[in-house]
Amino acid sequence: MDRSQGFNEGIDSWETVMFLYNSALKEVATKVDILNDEFVHVHKYNPIEYIKSRIKKPESIVKKLRRNGYESTIDNMVSHVKDIAGIRIVCSFTSDIYRLAEMIGKQNDLTVISVKDYIRHPKDSGYKSFHMIVTVPIFLSDRVVNTKVEIQIRTIAMDFWASLEHKIYYKFEGNAPDYISEDLRECAEIVADLDAKMLQLNDAILEAREQQFSGG
Ligand code: GTP
Ligand code: MG
Repeated sequence: MDRSQGFNEGIDSWETVMFLYNSALKEVATKVDILNDEFVHVHKYNPIEYIKSRIKKPESIVKKLRRNGYESTIDNMVSHVKDIAGIRIVCSFTSDIYRLAEMIGKQNDLTVISVKDYIRHPKDSGYKSFHMIVTVPIFLSDRVVNTKVEIQIRTIAMDFWASLEHKIYYKFEGNAPDYISEDLRECAEIVADLDAKMLQLNDAILEAREQQFSGG
């Protein structure tokens, strides 16, 4: 990694790291906001329902490091915990997810480190969402630091499922009885059907409107 861009070098304090992650979160949130505004401006359509961002709590960072067998050091957290800064974009329709992901990927100053498409390949739990890890350059007075942000993009329906599943699972500390896991997977299917129906409906409405305007 080139010296001016390296994250680990010279970043020794917790405060500096957290300052960088907070700044990265602001940068990415602004970019997403602008993409949404541009979309409204050009297409008169707003693909984003809402955006949530968060910085991972220190105890969650330590827990994740421990779970993966790493000591709690700043170097380890910067290298191995990729979701310290996280932004969740909740869209109206499944098609908006891919549109947004593509728009994000095309931003010249963002570097996409990895992509996980849990919509085409849902998790065993039934979890669906589109994940990207990107880095965004943070311009400090004497150097530029590329900082990681996890972006999760999902529909309202997927977000609804993920929130409730998380709550239910938390109660069982990850050891839910089989029938609960089965039921949750079934709910994920219902949610996916709902998303598909809503998308179909939206497409049908758009088409009908177009015909109306073209006098068809
Ligand atoms: P962690 O899950 O953060 O340890 O990292 P990972 O490398 O396994 O990444 P992954 O992309 O699988 O998951 C990252 C994030 O996605 C999690 O922190 C959750 O926010 C969300 N997530 C992943 N799987 C599930 C799931 O089964 N249920 C719910 N509710 N959320 C999930
Ligand atoms: Mg996580």
